[in-house]
Amino acid sequence: MKGIIKEETIEKIRNTCDLVDLVSRYLPLKKTGSNYTGLCPFHSEKTPSFTVSDTKQLFHCFGCGQGGDIFTFIMKIENLSFVEAVKFLGDLYGIPIEEGSKTDDKLEAEKKLIYEINREAARFYYYNLINSREPLNYLKQRGIGRKIIKEFGLGYAPNKWDSILNFLKGKGYKIEDIEKTGLIGRRKDNTGFYDKFRNRIIFPILDTRGRIIGFGGRVLDNTMPKYLNSQDTLVFNKGNNLYGLNLVKKYSDRKRIILVEGYMDVISLYNHGINYSVASLGTAFTKSQAKLLKRFGQDVYICYDSDNAGINATIRTINILRSEGIEPRIILLPQGKDPDDFIKEKGLEGFEGLIDSAMNHIDYRILINRKKYNLSDVEEKIKFTKKVSQIIRELKSPIEKDVYIDKISRDTGISKEAIQKEVLGKNIKANISSYKDKYINGKYRDNKNKIAPIKTVLESAHLTAEKTLVKLMTINREYYNIIKSRLYPKDFLNYECNTMVNIIYDAYERNQELDSIDSEYIIKNLETKNDIDSIIIDEIIGMNVDFLSETKII
Ligand code: GTP
Ligand code: MN
Repeated sequence: MKGIIKEETIEKIRNTCDLVDLVSRYLPLKKTGSNYTGLCPFHSEKTPSFTVSDTKQLFHCFGCGQGGDIFTFIMKIENLSFVEAVKFLGDLYGIPIEEGSKTDDKLEAEKKLIYEINREAARFYYYNLINSREPLNYLKQRGIGRKIIKEFGLGYAPNKWDSILNFLKGKGYKIEDIEKTGLIGRRKDNTGFYDKFRNRIIFPILDTRGRIIGFGGRVLDNTMPKYLNSQDTLVFNKGNNLYGLNLVKKYSDRKRIILVEGYMDVISLYNHGINYSVASLGTAFTKSQAKLLKRFGQDVYICYDSDNAGINATIRTINILRSEGIEPRIILLPQGKDPDDFIKEKGLEGFEGLIDSAMNHIDYRILINRKKYNLSDVEEKIKFTKKVSQIIRELKSPIEKDVYIDKISRDTGISKEAIQKEVLGKNIKANISSYKDKYINGKYRDNKNKIAPIKTVLESAHLTAEKTLVKLMTINREYYNIIKSRLYPKDFLNYECNTMVNIIYDAYERNQELDSIDSEYIIKNLETKNDIDSIIIDEIIGMNVDFLSETKII
């Protein structure tokens, strides 16, 4: 007998599995506009009418009318029941399937009650706000009126130790249930409970299903701490959610999404007509938030404060996003301004101007280093040029490399040749076009069909494949030989992978073993940017036996 699968397991699979990745395991997809299309696997056709939306995580065939999500797709294509499809996907993505039981029913009921109490609390705070002059004035002075208060469900927690406590008790909730929301704390001397949020503007945090999962609270003056957030609870995990995502889901066309630092930034941007920004919940940006973002915007922008903390957080976030296959653009704010300040001053048009001039991560990193070093000091100039050379090295296109080298040469007065040497390191000959004839076996050179049509394959599956191939090549020359017989370096589209591949190809072709050449760089990249870290090498080899087995080397 099959048990009922836990809601959490289904959710976990939904958050891990990417539909485009999944479908592309069965049929080749091509990016067409904002969607992916291919020949429908469910009816016979010659022109592709099967469409997959990356952002919505849904598929639809305009030919036969079939459509659905990851589970529907697997049910149809593998001819499985829902429960079997969940198990199938669990296996595929390494997610243990937990079946429900009596205790889970209890857990679900517990969670439901927390959502319910949170909702009651939010209403209490809201009515308190709209009846309290001081917090209303505070918000008004920050440009926030009734409409925004309502849209975000903002509230106010009175300056008392027991207002939410008494309100919720009065509604008939048991103290131990109220405690589970994190809205109240136990007094140190164990004599009872107290309200955690006092005299604060309340920001309810909603998930994309519109449930209130937690709260943030801001003081009305300069006292510290400025913000207080709900502790993590059964329904609230700071690293798995983003503030404002519920409204992005509701209103945005999902073309773009902007990541900002503060709750007030999200609210202020929305207030001025930008309904596609989100903020992390008072903690550093996480991988699982990156996965969420991917669903809600094709183009991801980072717009953090321009202070040092903001710059460091930007670099960190760039790395996390790129490890998830997202190439973010970075919006630069004038010194000392956050998005809220800026849009208040320059309006929607001004902010859109900033979006239009957002930078790629290479430009951004060069700029940041430029500010760090004093170029009129010789030693600092050298340090700067070395640092920037490392960054330029990551570029995949020789033309792009050249443009940047030229720019840095003009900025520093250092000759182009010297910078070129620094960029290419020991691999001066590393020039993508020169690989073409040199590295591809004669057998395959003229047979384009033998070269994997990577460009039509999809982001995430593609990225994983690239990383896996890089890892394999770092193991030994045999893998390298197999891979180079099929793929040009330029077929590796991800910046990091492409850079690493260039280094690897070059090293092997010069008869050097890899660990003597830049292995530090490769390992560093694989370690920090690889989302398949956790898979040990042996497993990777096992995983790929199939697609490399033609040559029977493994
Ligand atoms: P305003 O100062 O009201 O404009 O707020 P902001 O949204 O611009 O916040 P700020 O840029 O100072 O901080 C960004 C985010 O970091 C906030 O939205 C909070 O989530 C979090 N944060 C800021 N200060 C604190 C704090 O004292 N404690 C905690 N836990 N989080 C904070
Ligand atoms: Mn601010």
